[in-house]
Amino acid sequence: MADDCGYNRICMPTTVCSFAKINLGLAIGPVRADGFHSLTTLYQTIDAHDLVTVAARPAAETSITLTSNDPQVPLDERNTAYKSVKLALGLKRVGAEVRIHIDKRLPVQGGLGAGSANAVAALIGLERELGAHGIAPLSGPERLGIAAQVGSDVPLFLVGGAVLGVGRGEEVYPMPDLPVTPCVVALPEIGVSTPQAFRDWDARHDSSPQSTLTEGAGSDRLKGLSRALSAALCEPHSSGVFQEDLAAKTGSPANLVAGANPLHALVRTGIENDFEEVVFPQNPLFGEIKRVLAGPEDPEAAALYVSLSGSGSALFGLYGTPDGARAAVARLDGMGVRSVMTETMPRERYWRSMIVE
Ligand code: C5P
Repeated sequence: MADDCGYNRICMPTTVCSFAKINLGLAIGPVRADGFHSLTTLYQTIDAHDLVTVAARPAAETSITLTSNDPQVPLDERNTAYKSVKLALGLKRVGAEVRIHIDKRLPVQGGLGAGSANAVAALIGLERELGAHGIAPLSGPERLGIAAQVGSDVPLFLVGGAVLGVGRGEEVYPMPDLPVTPCVVALPEIGVSTPQAFRDWDARHDSSPQSTLTEGAGSDRLKGLSRALSAALCEPHSSGVFQEDLAAKTGSPANLVAGANPLHALVRTGIENDFEEVVFPQNPLFGEIKRVLAGPEDPEAAALYVSLSGSGSALFGLYGTPDGARAAVARLDGMGVRSVMTETMPRERYWRSMIVE
């Protein structure tokens, strides 16, 4: 989609990798006055991605045209990429002719934040395109504000890596990164509606704003998870300070010294995804996939951690070795469930790999 952008130059559009996320623990709290639920989660970006291509140039009138290879993607103002671009142009008070193509490789509603990531990818593509015409980029807070308006799990994609999400999930804080870890995402063909999953949660737990009893208990659970996440990821033993001493004494590489991977510390805290309680009873396949991802008792082959991602329907397993992950893919193939083998994506790599040159 080369584009004649004037001044006798042919401009190439910008293609952005729109990486997905998984949730390492998710606790649902009370309903807030605005109807959203407070929550605490640890988002982790992964290498699986869609591709978002943006061509843009200043114009007297704004026009945003969307195309996609996937007929399930809405091509109008309901599209998250459309929303973020519209908000950005409004905030900059700039008119532009914008064309966005979304090459979908991930499920549209899978709990992997794919649509939310598309919104950030489009924003980054837009800024790069307009930057070539001398239009200054948005400030960091402006970008985060737009992302939060588009959806609760959009701002995390402006941070990348391991990200603490609080508030309704839109208040994001970068956390120390986990080592790159093999990951298998299982993609059962089951639709899960996020608003319905929240309503199902409310039906089982009195999380209404009026329930002062639950307010206390719910908030305590959120704080408990935040503390557990911070402790597991930020303690000196997780950051390798003690491991380097031990590694020096034993002559082993620091990341191979037992317990050096903060993921182990994280799993030991007992992180869980609250959505499993309401989503799993909907279909026995969820529990079956979780068992298959977990694998045999053999600690060499078993998953380090298995969970539903967001409200699903994707589930994921994290493994100690690529072989462990490959074996999980084979087990899922055997039961006829589509899966993607990928790995977790630390922050620096997330940003370095984002623009397809
Ligand atoms: O923010 P987002 O558009 O992704 O949210 C979709 C829906 O999920 C909301 O309209 C709301 O019903 C529900 N939700 C919620 N609490 C959150 C996030 C989402 O109740 N923290």
